[in-house]
Amino acid sequence: MDYKQYITVVEDWPKPGIKFKDITTLMDNGPAYKSAVNEIVEFAKDKDVDLIVGPEARGFIVGCPVSYALDIGFAPVRKEGKLPREVIKVAYGLEYGENVLTIHKDAIKPGQRVLITDDLLATGGTIEATIKLVEQLGGIVVGCAFFVELAYLDGREKLDGYEVLTLTSYE
Ligand code: PRP
Repeated sequence: MDYKQYITVVEDWPKPGIKFKDITTLMDNGPAYKSAVNEIVEFAKDKDVDLIVGPEARGFIVGCPVSYALDIGFAPVRKEGKLPREVIKVAYGLEYGENVLTIHKDAIKPGQRVLITDDLLATGGTIEATIKLVEQLGGIVVGCAFFVELAYLDGREKLDGYEVLTLTSYE
């Protein structure tokens, strides 16, 4: 499927010069959203995945339906101050700004095979931080899957050695 027809490019948002890729118009189209989720489910099928991990907030939109389809759990990665129990943290740089991501210390058991999901691979900072959190807890990252890639930001360079799926890419 050509997913670009469902993604809205918003000029100068949230800052001048940024062409924001709005996936809400993909999500609110039932067949397009289902097809995108199913492609990630297929990608996961031969990987013996135990758990899906996705960063707030749009990583949940991608990861939760995938975990439901595979009959496995989902562990949220959240911004600092949002998770109620003991967490580990990693700081990271965004396409615009800076942030800290956290995960519950008991979210992953050592040796569990984890697929990481998010809506967008831009600079790769968010996913790199998410990989660090998973690996610090002893998880094995078996792949990273995204709806959209901004290829001109070279996020893939941070994912060297990991299997990556993106459903559509902007040059
Ligand atoms: C966006 C997007 C990805 C990340 C991609 O999330 O959903 O998680 O940025 O950028 P990167 O590859 O340069 O790290 P954002 O941090 O804006 O959070 P949100 O989903 O809660 O809006």
